[in-house]
Amino acid sequence: MVLTRSQARTFYDRFGEKQDAQGFYEDAALGDLIAHAMFEQAEGVFEFGCGTGRLASRLLANHLPASARYLGIDISQTMIDLAYKRVSPYEERARVALSDGSMSIPLPDCSVDRVVSTYVLDLLSETDTDQLVSEAHRVLTPNGKLCLVSLTKGKGIVARVVSGLWSAIFRLHAPVVGGCRPIRLESFISPQFWAVEYRNVITQFGVPSEVLIARPVLNAQQDIEIGRAGRAHR
Ligand SMILES: C[S@@+](CC[C@H](N)C(=O)[O-])C[C@H]1O[C@@H](n2cnc3c(N)ncnc32)[C@H](O)[C@@H]1O
Repeated sequence: MVLTRSQARTFYDRFGEKQDAQGFYEDAALGDLIAHAMFEQAEGVFEFGCGTGRLASRLLANHLPASARYLGIDISQTMIDLAYKRVSPYEERARVALSDGSMSIPLPDCSVDRVVSTYVLDLLSETDTDQLVSEAHRVLTPNGKLCLVSLTKGKGIVARVVSGLWSAIFRLHAPVVGGCRPIRLESFISPQFWAVEYRNVITQFGVPSEVLIARPVLNAQQDIEIGRAGRAHR
């Protein structure tokens, strides 16, 4: 069973900056995401479950244009306090906010060009993940990108053993593994709504992570509406 929102909040309020120590298995996958998500061309980034703000500060310092805006939300006040310190040098364009844990993204339609979430979908229920992915589709601009990283199931022997053990521990007592379990991101990305631009599985210290970048596919009605809006601005 996945953690309830209140259990997730309590866990991450206590876990706090220990989250950064997970970099030993996360960093290679995060590096792969950054290498393929073209953050240099982004104007607005939204991050769901920003944690300590480690990725945000890396993006703001090294990858985003100086004019790009960033908004991160998290269910844990401890995480938001830590993230606030990390993004405060960029306070004119970067903001973090405490959320109630719901899947709604507090942004208008078509308003950001990157929706990022790393090592968060693996602790959400399938229903919540579907809802978050659909919210991402709503807020992304037509050329925007959904940028995800998550624990996944491994292919090599070591990765299969590690992800199998991880899943077993999750089933026994989810808080031991922070409520996270290996999932397959691609299974939440319907080809009707998304075009997958990049997908990779990276294993670091035996722990496999899936990196997935997808852009929204517009239906005919949305194409017409965006065309109309574009013409109205000319
Ligand atoms: C495993 S940590 C990952 C943090 C960060 N994204 C990273 O890669 O280091 C999961 C994060 O998701 C947050 N989280 C869990 N459930 C959430 C929800 N329903 N809404 C927003 N944040 C949530 C937790 O508080 C925690 O900061």
